[in-house]
Amino acid sequence: MSLWNRHKIFEKNSIILIAGILAVIAVGGLVEITPLFYLKSTIEAVDGVRPYTPLELAGRNIYVREGCYLCHSQMIRPLRDEVERYGHYSLAAESMYDHPFQWGSKRTGPDLARVGGKYSDEWHVTHLINPRAIVPQSVMPGYPSLANTELDLTDMVAHLRTNRAIGVPYTEDQIKNAVADLKTQLDPDSADVASFQKRYPKAAVRNFDGTAGNPTELDALVAYLQMLGTLIDFKLYDEKANLR
Ligand code: HEC
Repeated sequence: MSLWNRHKIFEKNSIILIAGILAVIAVGGLVEITPLFYLKSTIEAVDGVRPYTPLELAGRNIYVREGCYLCHSQMIRPLRDEVERYGHYSLAAESMYDHPFQWGSKRTGPDLARVGGKYSDEWHVTHLINPRAIVPQSVMPGYPSLANTELDLTDMVAHLRTNRAIGVPYTEDQIKNAVADLKTQLDPDSADVASFQKRYPKAAVRNFDGTAGNPTELDALVAYLQMLGTLIDFKLYDEKANLR
């Protein structure tokens, strides 16, 4: 029997064909999946990634509540056009403390993974209140209510605790100081800035919405946007990666 004739056995008998397909997929699946059980983690360790400050976390909650992810992704793919437009491609470690992650699947607006530091706080305040004040043809809705809605601080401790329950390494110290830390991050004159920044290295401290008074939802959202993509020093990261 020639090789061609033997192949006919598969082509003429669908049950044998299905059994053959299953056997091939099973081997492929084993080769792909089994190694994952022997890895401690599929997320590479990267210097600089820390849990969100209480203010940033509150901002993130507003981002999720308002559905910003319906128009914005936070995931830069390792493709040349994306890297040239948005910056270094996203690393798994960058969303390791995101529950749920905000990768998104739609880009009506640009990717926001590295928007932190790209614009001033005033830019964000003006843009969030009325995007068309800055980009006349923008289809992004305005969120003017954020500016005059005080942040609800009553459940801040619970938010940190909940995140810890699902794997974010918040310490007792961070949880205990959640509300105080949130206020300290908005007040550069506070005596607690040093201890706050010890708990959250590299966290920016300033009045994000530019108006005095109690913390607003706008403060929190701008604080969150301004830290996106700023934790990792990619010059160092790439140097290390080249040495590997
Ligand atoms: C209906 C879709 C839509 C929604 C919902 C939306 N945006 Fe946008 N966003 C856009 C578009 C389109 C742009 C580009 C034009 C502009 O700058 O306004 C944009 C731009 C931005 C930019 C500037 C990005 C850059 O790199 O220039 C930021 C920051 C931003 N949006 C934040 C948000 C936040 C925060 C929310 C939720 C409160 C949100 N957007 C909700 C569509 C949307």
